[in-house]
Amino acid sequence: MLEKTKLSNQEINWLLENRITRISDKKGVLIYPMGAERYLSLVLSGKIKGRYNIANDIINKNILIIPGYGNSAFLFANIGAKSITVYDKDPVTIAWIKAFKKYYHYREYSKNQEPFPSVGEILTALTAWYPPLIKLPNGKFLNHINYIINPKELRRAYLFYMMKLVRNALESKINHDVELKHDIKFFVGEIKDIKESNFDTAFVPYLLGVTNGIEITTEIVAFIKQLVKIVPSGNVLVNPARGTKEFYITGKSYFKTSEYKNITHIPELKNHVRFEDKYWFKTQGMAIFGP
Ligand SMILES: C[S@@+](CC[C@H](N)C(=O)[O-])C[C@H]1O[C@@H](n2cnc3c(N)ncnc32)[C@H](O)[C@@H]1O
Repeated sequence: MLEKTKLSNQEINWLLENRITRISDKKGVLIYPMGAERYLSLVLSGKIKGRYNIANDIINKNILIIPGYGNSAFLFANIGAKSITVYDKDPVTIAWIKAFKKYYHYREYSKNQEPFPSVGEILTALTAWYPPLIKLPNGKFLNHINYIINPKELRRAYLFYMMKLVRNALESKINHDVELKHDIKFFVGEIKDIKESNFDTAFVPYLLGVTNGIEITTEIVAFIKQLVKIVPSGNVLVNPARGTKEFYITGKSYFKTSEYKNITHIPELKNHVRFEDKYWFKTQGMAIFGP
């Protein structure tokens, strides 16, 4: 039997007051699909060829995601992960992601009983590189204008609508089950708080060598050494792996707080490197570690 997701009173309060800043560093919560998740979704769908075959590490596997912001858990659930355990140190981020699972199939209807999109359908739309136009209660016309002028605005409108759906679902105290039926568990915490030690795969997006993540090389090393112990025979997937920009001036790089240009170059980690895909999400790279 799948456990139902339960929100604490504190979590419910944050959601109802529409809190969108993290507790730890007061930065905005990352609760929507960003470029990295959209890219991940394209690779998982088979639309991008030649990249590291991540689906092999996900389908039918028990997966740990740390940090578990964004929608990676839902992407993995939808392609057939066996179980997913999500850890993020920020409790507000966890509150939103939990609520998206709990209210995944919640939707509202127009006066004529026309369905508006559900929480899950909006997450899916936001995962598309070019979000499709979907009708929201505040009018199709607005969406069209937004789409033509500024797709970013459209994303923002979808995100705000999805958050409003969560609040409406909480306030209306719906009694029918709208939860995503999948084994996903959520925890507020860091690696030291993880109790289980039998994961098949760990997915570590935008944490190591990244601003506001685990920035210092010695801590990156300690993190990987601890993580490979709780993923005894599977892969630890880390991205971004390198600090190379796509273009000298305009490209972005996120792996930049370590003195090394590539996580696989850190001497203490060399024995744990199993594979590297340098071209995962342009030049950001994905490194695969093992015990
Ligand atoms: C590290 S941030 C990186 C993205 C971006 N630079 C930013 O500041 O938002 C991504 C996520 O990692 C979480 N996080 C930060 N340090 C963590 C840690 N030691 N363990 C688990 N999650 C952590 C944050 O709460 C956030 O949701």
